[in-house]
Amino acid sequence: MQIKSAEFFKSSSLLSQCPAPDKPEFAFIGRSNVGKSSLINMLVNKKNMAKTSATPGKTRLINHFIINAEEKRPWYLVDLPGYGYAKIAKTERGKWEKMTEEYLSKRENLLCTMVLVDVRHEPQKIDIEFCVRLGELGLPFAIVFTKADKEKPKAIERNVSAFCNALLEYFSDMPNYFLTSAEKKTGREDLLNFLNNVMMEWKKQSK
Ligand code: GTP
Ligand code: MG
Repeated sequence: MQIKSAEFFKSSSLLSQCPAPDKPEFAFIGRSNVGKSSLINMLVNKKNMAKTSATPGKTRLINHFIINAEEKRPWYLVDLPGYGYAKIAKTERGKWEKMTEEYLSKRENLLCTMVLVDVRHEPQKIDIEFCVRLGELGLPFAIVFTKADKEKPKAIERNVSAFCNALLEYFSDMPNYFLTSAEKKTGREDLLNFLNNVMMEWKKQSK
């Protein structure tokens, strides 16, 4: 899929402030610092469109980016705040969680949520629980393993397979999953193809 243009569109702290739900949209979520903003930049081939930081908790709002704004079929990528970041006040964390949950459960043009998982770690309870929650809400999701450049192939294989097994305790089928590195641009084509296929399928069904 060709990305002809990509730019920041809007930040929102409430679902009601989000752009009109008139274009297909994909959300990116995962633990704080997992690499959501970096992955979005990698996908659109821009260095600093989504703000990244070595300090967790950088993204605090629902950030919409518009892709191919001038083309026939524009769509949105959405950068969400990370979960599981311990070093913020409970009230603040509660606010993020409420905002994210409302967005995920009610956003009508959200086609699929990409759940990012750091491939360097063994399955983390918080990631599995998040996927289970999406499942309970009946929301389609895919897994995107990040930071593949930082781990050896053997360990990657072990962690991916352990994560799949952990998910399969709750789901009958493994969702689509991708191995990526924002640093090395690994997985870019596969992921863009997947997003494109989901949009084509959605278009067919909405006819
Ligand atoms: P929050 O918005 O704070 O929740 O973080 P985030 O998930 O958006 O992560 P972000 O993209 O800001 O990246 C966090 C850190 O990880 C930064 O220092 C990035 O440079 C680094 N990083 C992200 N992706 C990769 C990757 O694929 N490889 C390597 N080596 N570093 C990465
Ligand atoms: Mg971020």
